[in-house]
Amino acid sequence: MKKDFLSIKNLSKQNIEYILELSIKLKKESKEGIYYKPLEGKSFALAFEKPSTRTYVSFVVAIQQLGGNVVTLPQSSLGNRESLHDISQTLSRYVDGIIIRTFAQSTLESIAEHAAVPVINALSDKYHPCQIMADYQTIVEHKGIGKKKIAYLGDGFNISHTLLEFCAKVGYDLSVATPKGYEPDAGIVAGALQEAKDSKLEITNSPEQALIKADIIYTDTWTSMGKENESAKRMPLFLPFQVNSNLLKLAKSDALVMHCLPAHRGQEITDEVIDGPQSIVFDQAENRLHIQKAILCYLFE
Ligand code: CP
Ligand code: NVA
Repeated sequence: MKKDFLSIKNLSKQNIEYILELSIKLKKESKEGIYYKPLEGKSFALAFEKPSTRTYVSFVVAIQQLGGNVVTLPQSSLGNRESLHDISQTLSRYVDGIIIRTFAQSTLESIAEHAAVPVINALSDKYHPCQIMADYQTIVEHKGIGKKKIAYLGDGFNISHTLLEFCAKVGYDLSVATPKGYEPDAGIVAGALQEAKDSKLEITNSPEQALIKADIIYTDTWTSMGKENESAKRMPLFLPFQVNSNLLKLAKSDALVMHCLPAHRGQEITDEVIDGPQSIVFDQAENRLHIQKAILCYLFE
């Protein structure tokens, strides 16, 4: 049966650890100039309804390094010209996998349901699973294996949702601090709490509370793609959640700072912090390439 990669929720802890180990191996080998071509002769369609730098480029390079070919759909919106059902069926006759960046998670789920080939979530409004898998690798590389506490400061949107489901699976503690009214989706929080066995998950409106004993401080844009017209309204509400050198002092002294990027310097994170010694944001960005190679290998093994 074909496998899709739509969320962390659909993965077991074993799947997550398998992908992590494979990515670490592929990264080491690529640094030594060793490349395998398990996707030789396979083609992939990329359809992005939103802008992208990291995800798009790292997927194209990942597929090329694994020996596959890429075709990018010229239109930017799915489902306007014909039904998702018909797009899925058609693409399945041409390509071996479909990589989608979209708004509604239901778009991805519908394409996955009707496609005969694996579908990968390259970001939706609900989840960003490839990002959080790359972040896992980055944390393990910098902090080793074992329990960690992540403090997420900012909008309760796709990154925080994915972190909630991820931390529940791997046993990390997570405190999500958002302004009032911007908390993560209640259904996702409830599902993650139910799943969590060894992890403590907390939702708060206090950044100071979230930062207590944090090993990792994670932030994301205050205004996600598609919500640009809310930017002015959000700015003053989110300002107390800015990751700056004062807030940094509230976490553990060796805490590391993460951001999925793109960053809005001077808003959710200051130059001093993103360019400072505790920042590992470009290691995160690099690991998108390695983890996506591992995800592709996992889906096509
Ligand atoms: N982090 C991330 O997904 O970046 P892009 O939007 O540039 O792909
Ligand atoms: N929350 C951000 C993540 C970008 C990678 C967005 O959806 O725009």
